[in-house]
Amino acid sequence: MNVDLSVRDLRQEDLRWCSWSGTALHLWRVAGELERARTDAVDYLAVCSPADLPVAIGGVDYEVNPATGTLWQLVVHPALRSRGIGTLLIRTAEQHIVAKGLCRAELGVEESNTRARALYERLGYLSYDRKPGVREVEEPTGLIRRYETVCTVMWKSLVIRPREDN
Ligand SMILES: CC(C)(COP(=O)(O)OP(=O)(O)OC[C@H]1O[C@@H](n2cnc3c(N)ncnc32)[C@H](O)[C@@H]1OP(=O)(O)O)[C@@H](O)C(=O)NCCC(=O)NCCS
Repeated sequence: MNVDLSVRDLRQEDLRWCSWSGTALHLWRVAGELERARTDAVDYLAVCSPADLPVAIGGVDYEVNPATGTLWQLVVHPALRSRGIGTLLIRTAEQHIVAKGLCRAELGVEESNTRARALYERLGYLSYDRKPGVREVEEPTGLIRRYETVCTVMWKSLVIRPREDN
């Protein structure tokens, strides 16, 4: 993409610019995760445009599995997908995991989400398990419907490079 994007921590004040990322309920939950991020349990990242507006967001949860950063809630603005922004978000999340001294990343992807899974495989993630999940869809009436789904659980070994001291 020929635009300078930056990646930084997502902030509460960004959320009013993130309605593209999901329902109001989803944003309310993200706001809760930003509270957890204050305790280092979570990194919540935003890829931002040159105007510093979020165009992709996603988190790393360090409390799901020991010694593992679990990527979740990854979403790129619908108008900006397939331009490498998701890859940038994931690679930056992996750098955060490594910076914590961990060498394992995990994520879950719905079995029906073949495109996202292909991306994760391209980035080196391997599937090793399946588990039930729940998807929430907001109807035009504002009603939130919950669907049971099945997720593929994937993992990736991250390389911790030794520090070069000059
Ligand atoms: C899944 C998701 C996060 C991926 O983000 P993305 O920005 O589209 O991902 P990338 O652009 O890095 O890579 C995906 C595709 O772009 C292509 N691509 C990457 N860089 C590119 C570039 N510079 N130019 C053109 N295409 C590029 C990749 O080959 C890949 O091909 P595809 O379109 O056939 O899948 C995004 O599509 C999304 O938000 N989806 C909806 C929510 C979701 O499903 N989240 C994941 C839950 S597990």
